[in-house]
Amino acid sequence: MAKRIDGKAISQMVKDELRDRVKKEKIEATLAVIQVGSDPASTVYVGNKKKACEYIGIRSLAFELPEETKEEELLDLVRELNDREDVDGILVQLPLPAHMDEDKVIQTISPKKDVDGFHPQSVGALSIGQPGFVSCTPAGVIQLLKRSGVEIEGKECVIVGRSNIVGKPMALLMLRENATVTVCHSRTKDLKEVTRRADILIVAIGKPRFITKEYVKEGAVVIDVGIHRGADNKLCGDVDFDEVEPVASAITPVPGGVGPMTIAMLMNNCVEAKGLQ
Ligand code: GUN
Repeated sequence: MAKRIDGKAISQMVKDELRDRVKKEKIEATLAVIQVGSDPASTVYVGNKKKACEYIGIRSLAFELPEETKEEELLDLVRELNDREDVDGILVQLPLPAHMDEDKVIQTISPKKDVDGFHPQSVGALSIGQPGFVSCTPAGVIQLLKRSGVEIEGKECVIVGRSNIVGKPMALLMLRENATVTVCHSRTKDLKEVTRRADILIVAIGKPRFITKEYVKEGAVVIDVGIHRGADNKLCGDVDFDEVEPVASAITPVPGGVGPMTIAMLMNNCVEAKGLQ
């Protein structure tokens, strides 16, 4: 039976360390969170971010804009927050309404305040090993692995999914940790053959329970970044947990695996942002 990697407990550990640091070093950081429209999932995420800020001792400012806000108005708000000395981090909750260009909005955020790590400058810095903000979910996966005692150096790591937010930065981070990295995607030929090489298999494809036991080598560490609500109203990941758990040596559950780490790493980025102003 695989060891379960407890993201809830590890994220709590990260948040407690941050809370102690904020208190000890008297760090006064402020995060500005912008939500456009009232997508229910986004409202839950934004609420969770606000709660985490309160827990750690980070001030949070909420900007709730109506769905029909013009792109230029949003860009003006971002520019204003870029200039405000009392704001250290800026997060624009995604997805944005269809009439807005997400790339343009992300590129307007100052890289010094880009706590999501989505700005091209942040991604570029990561790719050449320079300091900068790292996208929170992949950064959280690295923390899960390290704090669970999984050795990364020299291991075969296969990532399924090549999104800008997870797959690509995940590959860069695993490379930085000296893993041998393969990135697979929807056009990969014989996906099973590739994923079965993995010592560490990281799955972020957005397809419920897609990864079954045939995709997994005996003893692999399996990290599931997906989250879906099934027809039975239960949450599940991209990995068929019940099938894969007996094959893996360690596995993240959904919920309670990668999910809670994303917010913990966002909080870490907010504390780091303070030092950059
Ligand atoms: N929407 C879903 N996840 C995220 C995230 O990590 N950051 C932002 N800005 N929007 C999201």
